[in-house]
Amino acid sequence: MKTNLLVLGIESSCDETGVALVESHGTGVPVLCAHALHSQIAMHQAYGGVVPELASRDHIRRVLPLTQQVVDESGRALNEVDVVAYTRGPGLAGALLVGAGVACALGAALGKPVLGVHHLEGHLLSPFLSADPPQFPFVALLVSGGHTQLMRVDGVGRYELLGESIDDAAGEAFDKSAKLLGLAYPGGPALSRLAQQGDAGAFKLPRPLLHSGNLDFSFAGLKTAVLVQAKKLGPELESRKADLAASTEAAIVEVLVKKSLAALRETGLKRLVVAGGVGANRSLRLRLNAACSAKGARVHYPELHLCTDNGAMIALAGAMRLAAGVQAASRVYAFDVKPRWPLDALSGGS
Ligand code: KG4
Ligand code: ZN
Repeated sequence: MKTNLLVLGIESSCDETGVALVESHGTGVPVLCAHALHSQIAMHQAYGGVVPELASRDHIRRVLPLTQQVVDESGRALNEVDVVAYTRGPGLAGALLVGAGVACALGAALGKPVLGVHHLEGHLLSPFLSADPPQFPFVALLVSGGHTQLMRVDGVGRYELLGESIDDAAGEAFDKSAKLLGLAYPGGPALSRLAQQGDAGAFKLPRPLLHSGNLDFSFAGLKTAVLVQAKKLGPELESRKADLAASTEAAIVEVLVKKSLAALRETGLKRLVVAGGVGANRSLRLRLNAACSAKGARVHYPELHLCTDNGAMIALAGAMRLAAGVQAASRVYAFDVKPRWPLDALSGGS
């Protein structure tokens, strides 16, 4: 059996078209050969959020030129690709269908098998592409736009859900609070930038479920508290925006840090992996680093540019699943997508 595998990855679950090539060597960590990304942020900004139909149409326009770019930059040829991996879910149905359709068409045309990958597994494994990759087992804090979850990870495809948000995700709390403050989409990075000029102790905002005794999260009430505070401030809001942004960020970060530490305590593990867009947040990184080092635990992050959606993590997850023998690539080119798909379902083999 060939031990070197060249895996093409296609990500199109939301508002970023990502394509990448990784090469795996046996069971070692795969190496990133090239990746390319087109962000639709500028296109959706006028609407204050992602417009699903526009997202799908833009993925159609971008995916093949990006694939060509990745192949050219890697110095490889398209027919050298051994497997085409694509994001099968979760995400926007129409957007997912573009990546799945293109991947299966490419696979059929090249005579190569395809592999549907879980988007969150891509995020979760993305720190393996960093200069300081983690080792199994670890606790993963998954903080993307739609998900906030703590997982115990014992290996590729071995995921146990420890806790998750019962309503809004942390990313949503960032985005919705940013919108209330009149900041442009996507709100997380904008709110975080503004927060750097503010006083995090200026407003007392709730830390939902901080002392719940379990590892679940809830962020919907925080967004309401930000709205109430903004209304209370009235015309004064403009001059206090940075303070409110800093207070909001501090509330989200404190809950994420405390619950992550509780998950380490509960599992007895000393390694934390942070993945997903909110993992790019500077304050979260600073506080997690300090809290974990005080407890003798290590934190691993993806490279900053691989925190948000990208094709590299999909190619990587595909390559790692193949190498671990938990999934085989398929030559059946009929495809479906899974807009809703819990990550721990992978442990059951589905
Ligand atoms: O993982 P991701 O790129 O997409 C999903 O799979 O959802 O995550 C996007 C989320 C958005 O909510 C965005 O506002 C947030 O990540 N985000 C941030 C930062 N960068 C991205 N939130 C806080 N601070 C940041 N620096
Ligand atoms: Zn994502």
